[in-house]
Amino acid sequence: MIGIFDSGVGGLSVFREIHKILPDERFIYYSDNAHCPYGEKSREYIIDRARTITSFLISQGADIIVVACNTATAAAISTLRKEFPIPFIGMEPAVKPAAQATKTGVVGVLATAGTLKATKYIDTREKWAQNVKIVEHIGQGFVELVENGKITGPEAEEVTSRSVKPLVDAGADTIVLGCTHYPFLADTILKVTGKHVTLIDPAPAVAKHLLEVMTENDLIHTDGFSMDLHSSGDGTTLANTYNNLI
Ligand code: DGL
Repeated sequence: MIGIFDSGVGGLSVFREIHKILPDERFIYYSDNAHCPYGEKSREYIIDRARTITSFLISQGADIIVVACNTATAAAISTLRKEFPIPFIGMEPAVKPAAQATKTGVVGVLATAGTLKATKYIDTREKWAQNVKIVEHIGQGFVELVENGKITGPEAEEVTSRSVKPLVDAGADTIVLGCTHYPFLADTILKVTGKHVTLIDPAPAVAKHLLEVMTENDLIHTDGFSMDLHSSGDGTTLANTYNNLI
């Protein structure tokens, strides 16, 4: 059983890609929306939440876990790998494909404060973005929009434009979606940027990596699709978002 967790519904944007290549697996999803957003929380707090959620998912039968949250991956995945005897798959900031794709030589990165200040992101940027200019912005208010189901419309456009416009104004033609909530706002972000901008979502690469790790560990069972949804707070947005995906 594949366990997936996030601070909210964002991880469903990763599940969507996983399901395309692993359609017959059993899934359990945990939205930690009672403690959302993670973006501004301390590393210790996120590690504590990640530990609690991991224990729960394993108690329900998960034998591999996707940390479908960039912020939680940056803060907690190394601790989880030390403390639990199962494989963990995390989110990678997609700076490398973005640096290869840009024609203007300017890459925008949208992510949470926690992700942007994490060593994992800073190391990735130093390794892959030496020949391009990186401009970063916190997706201020994006997670709240998605958690409230407001992914299109005037409010979504106004909120997203505050963080996205500075990237476009700086010349970015390629924007990394460095938080798993943000792909749900892709249409709105493209409305703000114009269609000449390419958005890069790491989820398809993460799904591919999961498939490889499951194959190596003999975890592919294809015993029929199922999904068990859990949330620490109100489950309405989780159910609605999931029903719109499937
Ligand atoms: N979905 C998350 C991420 O990928 C966390 C958003 C948040 O809770 O701030 O970073």
